[in-house]
Amino acid sequence: MLHRRVIVDHYGGPEELRVVEEECPEPQEGEVRVRVLAAGVSLPDVMMREGIHPETPTLPFTPGWDLVGVVERLGAGVSGIETGRIVAALPIHGAYAEYVCLPKDELVPVPAGVDPAEAVSLVLNYVTAYQMLHHSAKVRPGQRALIHGAAGGVGSALLQLGRVAGLEMYGTCSARGAAAVSDLGGIPIDYQKQDFVEEIRRRTGDGVDVVFDGIGGSHMWRSRKALRRGGRVVVYGLTSSLRGGRLASGRGGQRHRFHFLPVYALTIAGGWLLPGRKRMVPYSIQWLKRRNPDRFRQDLTAVLDLLQQQKIKPLIAQRLPLADARRAQELLGQGGVNGKIVLLRDDRSGAA
Ligand SMILES: NC(=O)c1ccc[n+]([C@@H]2O[C@H](COP(=O)([O-])OP(=O)(O)OC[C@H]3O[C@@H](n4cnc5c(N)ncnc54)[C@H](OP(=O)(O)O)[C@@H]3O)[C@@H](O)[C@H]2O)c1
Repeated sequence: MLHRRVIVDHYGGPEELRVVEEECPEPQEGEVRVRVLAAGVSLPDVMMREGIHPETPTLPFTPGWDLVGVVERLGAGVSGIETGRIVAALPIHGAYAEYVCLPKDELVPVPAGVDPAEAVSLVLNYVTAYQMLHHSAKVRPGQRALIHGAAGGVGSALLQLGRVAGLEMYGTCSARGAAAVSDLGGIPIDYQKQDFVEEIRRRTGDGVDVVFDGIGGSHMWRSRKALRRGGRVVVYGLTSSLRGGRLASGRGGQRHRFHFLPVYALTIAGGWLLPGRKRMVPYSIQWLKRRNPDRFRQDLTAVLDLLQQQKIKPLIAQRLPLADARRAQELLGQGGVNGKIVLLRDDRSGAA
C-alpha cells in the first residue's frame, strides 16, 4: 500500500517542503501503525525546516511535532491497545504523513467523540501551556500573568488554561489578535504600538506574578521588568528569530541549531544575581517528556479531559489538507495567525 508524506531534504524556506508517495511503513516489534487524521503545524516545525531548532533532525526528514490518528496495525509483541482506537502522540518530527509507526508507549488515548483537529491542538501547545502554568510557574488563583504572543498557538492555550486556573491575564499581540485575546479572557496589549513594561506598570502598579515569554533574546530581560518582587519569567521560545517564514541567520542549506544550554544557564544565573528576587525559569516540552514520560502522558490526558468536558475550546486558525503543508508553513511564518493551523488527512484514495 502506498502513502504520502511531506519531506524536507534541504534546510531553508517553505519551498523546501515536498510531498512524496512511497510504500507505507510497517510496524516493527513494539510499534503501532497509526493512520494520521490530523497533524499540527507549529513554529518549531518552521524552525526545524530552517535547521535552527535544537531538535532539528538530519536530512531528509518529515516535519510534524504532534498528531492524532487511528490505531491501524499492531507490530509483534504489542498488546493492551486495539485497532480502531483514536490516539494522540508527540513524535517531535514525522507527523506530516498519512501513516506513521510509533512505539506503543508513545500513544495516549483520545476520548471518544472529540474532533481530531481540536485534539491535536492540545498535544504540543496545551501540554506546553499546562506544564508551564502548573509545574514551572505553579500558579495560584487570583495571580496576575503576562502572556506574550497571546493570540498564537501556545499563547491562546495559556489564556484558556489560565482562565480555568483563575488568573488575571494580560496578553501581548498585534492588532490582528486583540479581539481573540479579549474573547479568551486576556487584556490585550499591542506589542507593535505600546511598551508592554510601561503598560503593565500603569495597569497593575507593582507588576505581574509571572510572564510567559516565547519571544526570547533580549525580550526576556524586558519581561523581567514587568514582574513584581518574587515573580518569575518562564522562558520557552525564540519567536524573535524568525520572520516571514525565511531563514533567520541567512546561512541557508545547513543545520545550525541554536545552543540553548549556555543561553539558559546565563539567563538563570542573571535572574538570580540581579536584585528583586525575580527568577528566570526555562521550559522545554521535549526535555520534560524525555525525563518524565509519565508526566507528559498525565498532562496530555488532563487537557484532553478538559476538552471533553468543554472547559477549553482550542482556536483553529485553518484546516488544510496534508498536501498544503507548504502553504500552512508560509502562513505561520508570515504571522497574524490566531490559534493553530492543522493539516488534515484528505481522503483522496479512501484508503482504510
Ligand atoms: N519550549 C517548548 O517546549 C515550546 C513548545 C512549543 C512552542 N515553543 C515556542 O513557542 C513559540 C511560539 O510558538 P507558537 O507555535 O505558539 O507560534 P505562533 O502560533 O506563531 O504564535 C506566536 C505569536 O507571537 C506573536 N508575536 C510575534 N512577535 C511578538 C512580539 N515581539 N511580542 C509579542 N508577540 C509577538 C505573533 O503575533 P503576530 O503574528 O500577530 O505578530 C504570534 O501570535 C515559538 O518560539 C516556539 O518555538 C516552545
